[in-house]
Amino acid sequence: MKARVLSNRGIASSVYEMTFEWKGKKPHPGQFLMIDCQGKTFLKRPFSVNDFEEEKMTILYQVRGEGTKNLSQMKEGDILEITGPHGNGFEILEGKRVLIVGGGVGIAPLLYLAKKVKAQKLYIALGFKRETFLVEKFEGLGEVVVTTEEGSTGRKGLVTSVVEEMIGEVDIVYGCGPKPMLKALQEISMKANVLCQISLEEKMACGIGACLGCACKVREDKGFSYKRVCRDGPVFWAEEVLF
Ligand SMILES: Cc1cc2nc3c(=O)[nH]c(=O)nc-3n(C[C@H](O)[C@H](O)[C@H](O)COP(=O)(O)OP(=O)(O)OC[C@H]3O[C@@H](n4cnc5c(N)ncnc54)[C@H](O)[C@@H]3O)c2cc1C
Ligand code: FES
Repeated sequence: MKARVLSNRGIASSVYEMTFEWKGKKPHPGQFLMIDCQGKTFLKRPFSVNDFEEEKMTILYQVRGEGTKNLSQMKEGDILEITGPHGNGFEILEGKRVLIVGGGVGIAPLLYLAKKVKAQKLYIALGFKRETFLVEKFEGLGEVVVTTEEGSTGRKGLVTSVVEEMIGEVDIVYGCGPKPMLKALQEISMKANVLCQISLEEKMACGIGACLGCACKVREDKGFSYKRVCRDGPVFWAEEVLF
């Protein structure tokens, strides 16, 4: 479907927040959209729903290659071609003590999740290399802890150190971020026997389960098999993923 850009602004070095009109299906937290980034990019690119309210969709993205560079140059009134929402999204268990963990631009799907999760208690841990962004939007939704690797803002160190400290106080962890962070979440939550859902990123082509281009390895009773991140995910129970 076609969507009209409402705003597109840089909020940190090479990180942008874009809003556009959305008359399509209401998304579930953790779902993603496939966006035609125009120019010479042939395939649509996947972006998580960062926020959604009354026909207005927000995405948060980092410029990585041609597609995201083109996106960053779009202006109010430009028209985007989008499909979705795709994927399963996070499973929301009501009345739990929840810890949401994001790393870098991986915090993108976690804002909408933090708004929709019906938690008894909500902790939010956001980790960045140095420059922080979007933190103010999470404040007020739960108890927020920020970490930076060099300690320029918040606590010094990795966001997973917060998870190690807090794992005994929560019933479920939701995470999105770089693979090493997700792997650490898997290890910490499995050791503590705490539920954990992680959102995976793989390069995608079709985005609808047809090309098998986004396969990830999952544990089976007798060995392993493959699932499609676009169709079976992008959210998986941490214990089933084989990194
Ligand atoms: C389900 C899902 C949700 C996503 N949500 C977001 C989001 O909310 N915000 C955001 O900034 N990005 C998100 N991404 C990643 C985003 O889709 C890629 O950054 C984007 O497709 C890059 O396109 P490009 O044309 O700019 O770069 P390309 O020219 O295609 O690639 C540039 C570089 O980025 C790497 N890259 C491309 N795609 C991915 C990917 N999927 N994962 C890791 N590295 C990749 C390439 O290997 C290459 O090094 C998501 C990916 C998935 C699978
Ligand atoms: S991107 Fe084609 S099957 Fe997932």
